[in-house]
Amino acid sequence: MAVSLKGKSFLAISDFSREELEEILAQGEKLKLEHLAGKDEPLLKGKSIGVIFEKPSTRTRISFAVGIFQLGAQALVLNSSNMQLKRGETVADTARVLSRYLHAIVARVYAHKTLEELRDYGSVPVINALSDYTHPCQIMGDLLTIKEKKNKLEGLKLAYLGDGNNVCHSLMFGGTKFGMHVAVATPEGYEPDKKVIELSEKFAKESGGSLLVTHDPFEAVKDADVVYTDVWASMGEEAEHDKRVKVMQPYQLNDELISKSKKDSIVMHCLPAHRGEEITDSVIDGPHSVVWDQAENRLHIQKAILSLFV
Ligand code: CP
Ligand code: NVA
Repeated sequence: MAVSLKGKSFLAISDFSREELEEILAQGEKLKLEHLAGKDEPLLKGKSIGVIFEKPSTRTRISFAVGIFQLGAQALVLNSSNMQLKRGETVADTARVLSRYLHAIVARVYAHKTLEELRDYGSVPVINALSDYTHPCQIMGDLLTIKEKKNKLEGLKLAYLGDGNNVCHSLMFGGTKFGMHVAVATPEGYEPDKKVIELSEKFAKESGGSLLVTHDPFEAVKDADVVYTDVWASMGEEAEHDKRVKVMQPYQLNDELISKSKKDSIVMHCLPAHRGEEITDSVIDGPHSVVWDQAENRLHIQKAILSLFV
């Protein structure tokens, strides 16, 4: 049964049912096939979409701009530092004004609360392009990639190693929603949010999946179908970089650790990678790695999200 997402905002995977998330994946698969066949449909013809960044971005910025163009709409890609936000105009007032011009707002922000304010004070859908709490467009693209490589999601073991950050949170939500066995290994003090653990445990119960949060990287990666990592110091945490590199060393995706996963496991990284830190050259460039396909799928899944929500 088709579900309607029109007019809704997409801030976190946890806000959506499995059926709704399946609809996004199915639309992503469809739009990807159409695109590869040279048959992009102008599903958002004549619309204008603001894509606003408080932080740097390569993949998200460019894949949204290109995807919006392929949907027949116009992307206005903006740095928040060039807007009156920089000079003290409130997020609420910005949301009210932008809603008079735009059909949707895609935003990358520090505080997740900024996205909630954009949603609450504006009247157009808000799409989360990364906050300190979650990165849902990334993980929907990643689920599409896993499905392409493994032909299913349910029952697979997904190991995440390193920092219990925004990407980890969205993976926990996405994996447990789809009945995956999610195993997260972080150093002490870098575990995912308690609230995310609680919600993911609930989703795992509903879907028949499971959640393990451990400090043991070998336990997490053992017999995993998917092994995932992300940078050890996220945007905004640069000052902690040196301290984190020391603590997180045992969680590095290297040949030894990957040899404990399944023979046909896939290695994923949302990118940008800090080669030699969270992942070695031999792993990211090696036979298990699917990171470039993973990056490509951001384009297709974001088009799917926009075409369904806007
Ligand atoms: N993975 C990701 O979101 O990359 P960017 O920071 O380059 O957008
Ligand atoms: N956790 C990283 C993801 C970058 C795409 C960050 O927030 O910087």
